[in-house]
Amino acid sequence: MARILTGIQSSGTPHLGNLLGAIIPAIKLSKDSKNESLFFIADMHSLTSIRDPKSLKENTYATAAAWIAFGFNTEKNIFYRQSDIPEVTELMWYLNCITPFPMLTNAHSFKDKSSKVHNVNTGLFTYPILMAADILLYDADIVPVGKDQKQHLEMTRDMVGFFNNIYGDTLTLPQSKIDEKVMTIPGIDGRKMSKSYNNFINVFLPDKKLRKQIMAIQTDSKGIKESKDPQSCNVFKIYTLLASDGDIEQMEKNYSGGNYGYGHAKQALYELIIDKYSSERSRFNKLMDQQDLIENQLQKGAKKARIIAQSVLKRVRAKVGYKNMT
Ligand code: ADP
Ligand code: TRP
Repeated sequence: MARILTGIQSSGTPHLGNLLGAIIPAIKLSKDSKNESLFFIADMHSLTSIRDPKSLKENTYATAAAWIAFGFNTEKNIFYRQSDIPEVTELMWYLNCITPFPMLTNAHSFKDKSSKVHNVNTGLFTYPILMAADILLYDADIVPVGKDQKQHLEMTRDMVGFFNNIYGDTLTLPQSKIDEKVMTIPGIDGRKMSKSYNNFINVFLPDKKLRKQIMAIQTDSKGIKESKDPQSCNVFKIYTLLASDGDIEQMEKNYSGGNYGYGHAKQALYELIIDKYSSERSRFNKLMDQQDLIENQLQKGAKKARIIAQSVLKRVRAKVGYKNMT
C-alpha cells in the first residue's frame, strides 16, 4: 500500500490550474484501493501571504469545498487542516537544524519574491522546510503536485538524506508525482495560472462572472475573418485541457478556416466549463452554505492525522536524543 499525501494552500478559491494540476489527479490516485490518501489544506503556508483572519478562514472552507465537490472521499481517506496538527511545527524545527542555509536561498519560491527582500518574511524563506515537515510527518510515499513544486520535493528528499545520515534510518523518502501532460496550466494572460498573478479562471463563480473571466483571456488582435493559429492561442490551450479529442479537432478546423472569432472560441470554452463541471459547481455552492459540515469533516480528519503524526514524531524525538512525552 502506498501513502499518498498532498496539500494546497488556502490563499483563495482553487482555480482551474489548481484543479487540473493538483486536485483532480490527486483525487484520481485516492480512488485506487491500494492507496491511502492524506490531503490537507496548507493554511499555515497561507499565513506567509494572508494577514486577514476572515479571508484565511473563508479560503480554507472554499479550498475544502473544492476537494469535496470534486469527489474526494473524506470518510475513506484523511482530510485535514495543517494548523490543526501542531506536531508539524516541532518536526519543522528538527529539520531547520539539519538544513544548510544556502539550500533555502536557492528555492524558486523565495527567489521569485526576494527582489524585494525587505518585504520578505522569514516564513516565506523557511516555507520549504514546513512543506518537508508536512510530508515527512506522515511517512508519505508519493506526493502528487504541479511542476512548480518539483524543487520543494527535491529539497524534502535532501532533508531526509541529511537527517538519516546523522541519526540513522528514521524518515521515509517520498517521491513526487508530476503529471507531465498538465504540467503548467496557462492563465488568461498566458503566464502560469496563479492566484498571485490574478490571471485565473475560477470555475465556481456564478455564470455571469465566470463568463466575464473567460472573455478576458488575452489573444492577438486578428479579425473574425482571418485564419488563426490555435497553438499560440491561450483560449485554445485551455480548451484542449478540457475538451474531447473530437471537439479539439473541430476547434482547430474553426481556427484555421477563418470566419471564427476569438469571441466564438471563448463562448465555446465557457459552455464547455459550465457543462463539464455543472455538478461540481452546484456541490461547491451547497457546501459553502453549510460550513459547519465542512468543519465537522476537517475535525474528524485531524483526529486521524494526529495519530500518525504523533507516532512519527515519537520516533524522531527518540532519535535526536529527547525523552518522549507520554
Ligand atoms: P497558486 O500559484 O495559484 O498560488 P498554489 O501554489 O496554491 O497555486 O498551488 C496549489 C497546487 O496547484 C500545487 O500542487 C501546484 O503545483 C498546482 N498548481 C498551481 N497552479 C498551477 C498551474 N497553473 N498549472 C498546474 N498546476 C498548478
Ligand atoms: N507548497 C504547496 C503549494 O503551494 C502546498 C503544500 C504545502 C504542499 N505543503 C505541502 C504540497 C506538502 C504537497 C505536500 O502548492
